[in-house]
Amino acid sequence: MSAHKIIIAIDGFSSCGKSTLARQLAAKLGYNYIDSGAMYRAITLYFLRNGIDFNKPEAATRALQDINLSFHFNEIRQESDIYLNDEDVEPYIRDLIVAEKVSPVAAIKEVRAFAVAQQQRMGKSKGIVMDGRDIGTVVFPDAELKIFMTADPDVRVLRRYNEMLATNPNVTMEEVKHNLELRDYIDSNREESPLRKADDAIELNNSNLSRQEQLEIVLEWVKDRATDIRTSTRVTAFNEN
Ligand code: DC
Repeated sequence: MSAHKIIIAIDGFSSCGKSTLARQLAAKLGYNYIDSGAMYRAITLYFLRNGIDFNKPEAATRALQDINLSFHFNEIRQESDIYLNDEDVEPYIRDLIVAEKVSPVAAIKEVRAFAVAQQQRMGKSKGIVMDGRDIGTVVFPDAELKIFMTADPDVRVLRRYNEMLATNPNVTMEEVKHNLELRDYIDSNREESPLRKADDAIELNNSNLSRQEQLEIVLEWVKDRATDIRTSTRVTAFNEN
């Protein structure tokens, strides 16, 4: 679509559909998709497996020296899996046990510095869609397109519940709701890079948008950014689907 490649930063609360949109955009534009949350989840998995007391910043900092994160394309899924050292940990990082600890881990200053430095390196040659909590504010403050996604809380709980059922048939709606609320609270109130909408981000509420509709809306914004037309639209859609 656009001749010159841009950086697309997508932020928002948990389970707003950020990764769905990011995947759609990357596929359509031929860009790389990077799930920055997967990096915090993989670090959390390492801490859990190795009994690292992440209430002690020195222990976390020391442990980071033994962590190498990388993304490798998975031909079957047709997208990148995250590797923790030499292991594909994609199957484990969405477990509830990781979800329960990832927000406190992601609140540690040293952990953020470690992840952000790597994320910024991945964006050097642009042509990237990255989703997370601080992408438009901290990782890529100069991103050409910043999107802040929202969705109604009930919609978000249901989405995450359905997603988790696939791997954990015993999970309950109550557990998922509690976990989402807790994570949103920690992510928004932590001292280091709390989740907030960048001043120049466009807000997108996708509670009532189909995947195709949201993609079409955002592709228009991409077109605008690629020709350097700046707008500050706020979109709240109410159509069926
Ligand atoms: O997007 P996700 O639910 O997979 O993210 C997992 C956790 O990681 C989330 O609770 C907050 C944290 N996170 C973050 O602090 N900064 C990011 N850029 C991405 C995720």
